[in-house]
Amino acid sequence: MSSSNDEPLRRVLIASANPLFGRGLQKMVAQRWAGRNVEIRLAGSMEEASASLEEWQPDLVIVDYDDVGRPGSIQRSTFLSHFISEERPMQVMLVSLRESGEVVVYDRRMLTPDQAEDWLDLPWMPAPAADAARQQPAPQIPAAPAPSPEPAAASVPAFVPALAGPQSVSQFIPRSGGMKHYISVGVITVILTLLVGFGLQAADLTPRPSSAQAVPIDSMIHLQTWMIAFLFSLIVAFIGYSIFGFRHKNPNEYGAPFKSSTGLEVAWTLVPLITVIVLSFIGAQDLAAVRRVDPQALEVKVTAFQWGWAFEYPDSGVKSNQLYLPVNKQVHLSLTSRDVIHSFWVPEFRVKQDVLPGANLVKELRINPTQIGDYKVRCAEMCGGAHALMESPVKVVSQADFDAWIAQQGNTANLSPADRGKNVAQTTGCLSCHTTNGAPLVGPTWKGLYQHEVPLADGTRVVADDAYIHTSIVDPNAQVVQGFPQGVMQSYKGQLSDEQINDIIEFIKTLK
Ligand code: CUA
Repeated sequence: MSSSNDEPLRRVLIASANPLFGRGLQKMVAQRWAGRNVEIRLAGSMEEASASLEEWQPDLVIVDYDDVGRPGSIQRSTFLSHFISEERPMQVMLVSLRESGEVVVYDRRMLTPDQAEDWLDLPWMPAPAADAARQQPAPQIPAAPAPSPEPAAASVPAFVPALAGPQSVSQFIPRSGGMKHYISVGVITVILTLLVGFGLQAADLTPRPSSAQAVPIDSMIHLQTWMIAFLFSLIVAFIGYSIFGFRHKNPNEYGAPFKSSTGLEVAWTLVPLITVIVLSFIGAQDLAAVRRVDPQALEVKVTAFQWGWAFEYPDSGVKSNQLYLPVNKQVHLSLTSRDVIHSFWVPEFRVKQDVLPGANLVKELRINPTQIGDYKVRCAEMCGGAHALMESPVKVVSQADFDAWIAQQGNTANLSPADRGKNVAQTTGCLSCHTTNGAPLVGPTWKGLYQHEVPLADGTRVVADDAYIHTSIVDPNAQVVQGFPQGVMQSYKGQLSDEQINDIIEFIKTLK
């Protein structure tokens, strides 16, 4: 380009690593401003672009917005950050840098080829006198070498009406009536919170609370239900209101740009912070209430195994496969596992405790049952094939009934050996894997076992006599029955005395 009149020189830098973009735009600009005093320079790399920016001081920089991700491409964000100090919430395609250091940023938009013609009619390019028809009421932009006479802050806002003029496809939607919208959303949020909150409570998601520990836990659930209802409603109300309240038919319309709000940012930092601190305080108090120790607590040892529960009352020596508890008295459970990790859970009591194998990993749990009734302890940790069936009865009874039950359980002196064996089989957990009705479960059934021939995994056959059953209990993997996997049953050597094993054999004899 050469100067055809006294017009000051305008420098245009086109930054793109894509030669088609650069030359195409160069041609377009050159044609559009033919005969004008314009110099166009192409920058095909970050280094070139940055160097030109510093040394050449262009009046207009056109950045290839899509030139990202290829080797040597102009990384627009990195590139633009050279001279944009204040972050702006808009996508940038085209940037005009002025001598005063001010930056004019254009939105990215879709244009047809003839609209692009108009788009190049930029206010920084004053029309020559001969071309008065194209004159725009644009703000005055100082010539490149001259110092800027106007205040810096006025330039960008003053530029906006030019974009919204008749030649532009873009129009800004004014932001107005903000308080009215907030009040509407507030009312919707309150109504929705009440609906969701009461709805969740009416759904009755938890079983009847039946322990002292359930009280603080349920109050936390109650509080959190309302917080969940409020947060859900707040988000849904804002989204829903925005979808229907701010719907616009013309996709080319833009909303007015947002400015940051310090008050809002302080509020959304402080409110959650204080909420979390208050919640953690309530949580700590409730945890202390749940773990409160009663020195008079009833001691019960709980053993979990695949797949059942065994309970032992050390004060009386009673063993049971049911958990009997006196009402309104704290029970102190010491829990251990014979094999894998299980979890002790009675939903009505709310509290839950993992049960781990290992003598030094005994866990404890304190429960004060408050409601007489029948419950079930279930395993809340996936522990193998019959995990879902790992349940035992829990009976909360009056102190008198509890004492009577303990007395009855302890009185085994006049039981027959077979009845004693049945008790041992129940409280040891044998019957969790072996049925007495003929159906195989985890292990073979005990019905009709005694003195019958058993096919073994190695193809031999053996008669199930006293010696075979005794061996199967203390060394279960020595003679595995055909059709059952090796290594599933553990040895009960040391856990059961010879007398107890003999009682079990007597019990099996009765299962004809
Ligand atoms: Cu034990 Cu699941």
